[in-house]
Amino acid sequence: MITVTVCVGSSCHIKGAREMITRFNDFLTKEGLADKVELKGSFCMERCGEGINWMIGDETLSSPSAAEGAETFRKKVLGALKKKKKTPKAAPKRSRKRRS
Ligand code: FES
Repeated sequence: MITVTVCVGSSCHIKGAREMITRFNDFLTKEGLADKVELKGSFCMERCGEGINWMIGDETLSSPSAAEGAETFRKKVLGALKKKKKTPKAAPKRSRKRRS
């Protein structure tokens, strides 16, 4: 599960945090990823001058607009989910004994 936290403080709200959350949610629903990503809201992250502030796990991000945030979200969430996907290990080869 990936946790995405979006600041819903007044400055980020005015810049479009609510629209960005809606875009995140729409993307997750459309791609069938809603059970893999948890969306959370947060009080002011104390970076009000930097844009709409949000986090993916421990990584802090700032987006100038909801549209740019949604594009960054798409790229980073898909990248993080690919990393989490485990590739199955190949089964060990069995030696066959010949019967004579
Ligand atoms: S309101 Fe979002 S960082 Fe302050």
